[in-house]
Amino acid sequence: MTVITSIEDLRVLARQRVPRMFYDYVDVGSWTESTYRANEQDFQKILLRQRVAVNLAQRSTRATMLGHDVAMPVAIAPTGLTGMQHADGEILAARAARRFGVPFTLSTVSICSIEDVAEGTGGHPFWFQLYVMRDRDFVTRLIERAKAANCSALVLTLDLQISGQRHKDLKNGLSAPPRLTLLNLLNMAGKPRWCAGMLGTRRHTFGNIIGHVKGVDNMTSLAEWSSQQYDPALSWEDVAWIRRLWDRKLVLKGIQDVEDAKLAAASGADALIVSNHGGRQLDGAPSSIRALPAIVDAVGDRIEVHMDGGIRSGQDVLKAVALGAKGTYIGRSMLYGLGAMGEAGVTRALEIIHKELDLTMAFCGHTDIRDVDAGVLLPASF
Ligand SMILES: Cc1cc2nc3c(=O)[nH]c(=O)nc-3n(C[C@H](O)[C@H](O)[C@H](O)COP(=O)(O)O)c2cc1C
Repeated sequence: MTVITSIEDLRVLARQRVPRMFYDYVDVGSWTESTYRANEQDFQKILLRQRVAVNLAQRSTRATMLGHDVAMPVAIAPTGLTGMQHADGEILAARAARRFGVPFTLSTVSICSIEDVAEGTGGHPFWFQLYVMRDRDFVTRLIERAKAANCSALVLTLDLQISGQRHKDLKNGLSAPPRLTLLNLLNMAGKPRWCAGMLGTRRHTFGNIIGHVKGVDNMTSLAEWSSQQYDPALSWEDVAWIRRLWDRKLVLKGIQDVEDAKLAAASGADALIVSNHGGRQLDGAPSSIRALPAIVDAVGDRIEVHMDGGIRSGQDVLKAVALGAKGTYIGRSMLYGLGAMGEAGVTRALEIIHKELDLTMAFCGHTDIRDVDAGVLLPASF
């Protein structure tokens, strides 16, 4: 048995255990993948400042995100089809996050439904990510369902009115459940753990949608409905509408530009996430860590600024916090853990990141994450 010591180890194991179509769905960016790569690479360019002979005996990574006490400033990002990385994936990831003391965000296009996750986590609050669909009645009902399930924050994604093109997904014929072509069957035959898990659950398709939209009760009608539903007409008026419907914490996800950050700050939302959707939408956009400082400068005193994109280690988290992020989110780092080892793998991913964050903070001469600022970075490096 391999000893897992890094997120990269989890990625390698996930590639062995998850059918190719679903592994590729995670490890992919849009078009040339330049933004996907930049998200990771730009973190590497930022250098940390080592300090010595500081009393490091007592240390804390505890912080707050949206007023919630968290074990570290890291939340689980919303990711679609998570229940295809591992059977009942969203429930398992939500449990791991809860035990670790970090927020879990459920995607609109999850496999396990809002109600499944609420039940699977014993009614403990989680966060729900909303895609605004053309069918506004469906959106209103989703919001009601999220309220009833005790969701404490709504993460409204603004950067997917239209979908970026990911070559591998098209070539693999991505679908949930996978179509049983000869090629898919051959590939799945080599993933016995994954298959056993899938045979043991009834959750194989979009749990928030199927059975909740009139006329959408099977795969064919679902495929037809979803292909037309992302709303290209989404605007700041819809943000205002959702602000009126949702009286708990509201987070706007997918902000990359200072002008949009100012609009987000004026919208009455509680936080924004500097994000390029993990390099899956506008290929050629800057990495999130590069976009972050200007946004913090412009609106950081008016709205809580979070970020995601490219976080594969605790060092990355520390750098984001140093550049002003009050919270970060992990997408792929969580998904690799889930694909590799289910709930234990998500826990492992969180433990790895936490340990790296704690030690890196200490090497930089700090004992409390809440005191970390740009002083931990070498100025010439960012
Ligand atoms: C496989 C996958 C599916 C995703 N699905 C969603 C989604 O349903 N809703 C959403 O707002 N963002 C989605 N995202 C974007 C993530 O929330 C997040 O912005 C991104 O993963 C951060 O980058 P990282 O993967 O490098 O951590 C997805 C990302 C991945 C990798």
